[in-house]
Amino acid sequence: MVNTKINLCGIEIDNPIIPASGTFGFGYEFAELYDINELGTFSFKGTTKDPRFGNPTPRIAECPAGMINSVGLQNPGVDKVISEELPKLKACFDKKVMANVSGFSLDEYAYTCEKLDSQEQIGWFEVNISCPNVHNGGMAFGTSAEAAAQVTKAVKAVTTKPVFIKLSPNVTDIVSIAKACEENGADGISMINTLLGMRIDLKTQKPVIHNKMGGFSGSAILPVALRMVYQVYEAVNIPIIGMGGVSTAEDVIEMMLAGATAVQVGAANLVEPFACKNIIDSLPAVMEKYSINNLTDIIGGAH
Ligand code: SIN
Repeated sequence: MVNTKINLCGIEIDNPIIPASGTFGFGYEFAELYDINELGTFSFKGTTKDPRFGNPTPRIAECPAGMINSVGLQNPGVDKVISEELPKLKACFDKKVMANVSGFSLDEYAYTCEKLDSQEQIGWFEVNISCPNVHNGGMAFGTSAEAAAQVTKAVKAVTTKPVFIKLSPNVTDIVSIAKACEENGADGISMINTLLGMRIDLKTQKPVIHNKMGGFSGSAILPVALRMVYQVYEAVNIPIIGMGGVSTAEDVIEMMLAGATAVQVGAANLVEPFACKNIIDSLPAVMEKYSINNLTDIIGGAH
């Protein structure tokens, strides 16, 4: 019997497969399809202080081996997440969930995290400083080491649970940003968010996406994500949740060899709602094929 358990900042999870924020709602929607307790955990839809309707449509564009989204952090706001979404999740999920939080100022990040910190269902925070789809927030905090440090400090000051900072690949030096987060108290790094991209409609000769650009994800970005996880692993001593184009158990192993302790699956959930279940089901056989008894042993194994 192979061992798929991993320890994520003091919490043992049954396997390292985590549906990525924005691709799995608040979980209970997928519980209609399968028992979501099979997951290690999942990261819920990016939550902000106030409710957000998101960006005007069209906000999705298909691409070969991927997709572009420009959702714009649509969510019901932290109060409704606590009063409506988390109770619905509790009815179908016994495990700790990862709270994904976004903001438009340091105060907003801190406000939302402080409110969620009191919720016993939440095991970890994933603080998103990398959303490419909003102005004056999101990625603006993730493209400077100083701003990333400030968000990390602000959130750590008001939380008791492990905090992962979710980084943007749309930077020249992701390593310096990861190090700034670690130096300011981050318990882990989540990486990578989407790559800024666009498509143009040949009939209208205009951008497909209303906001012109959006975040590109899907299997096409796996090599970029692996390269960045590999580089950051060499520079920090905190766990990394690796993501970007993961859609198979083989991709999970590759991401862990690059340095990830756990692995998020994003766009694949939108193509195949059973993607995470399929990966979890196939993981033991793939581990056996490559003579891996214990997943923890392979973290950073490619270095
Ligand atoms: C969105 O809601 O725009 C996606 C979130 C993200 O890319 O960080």
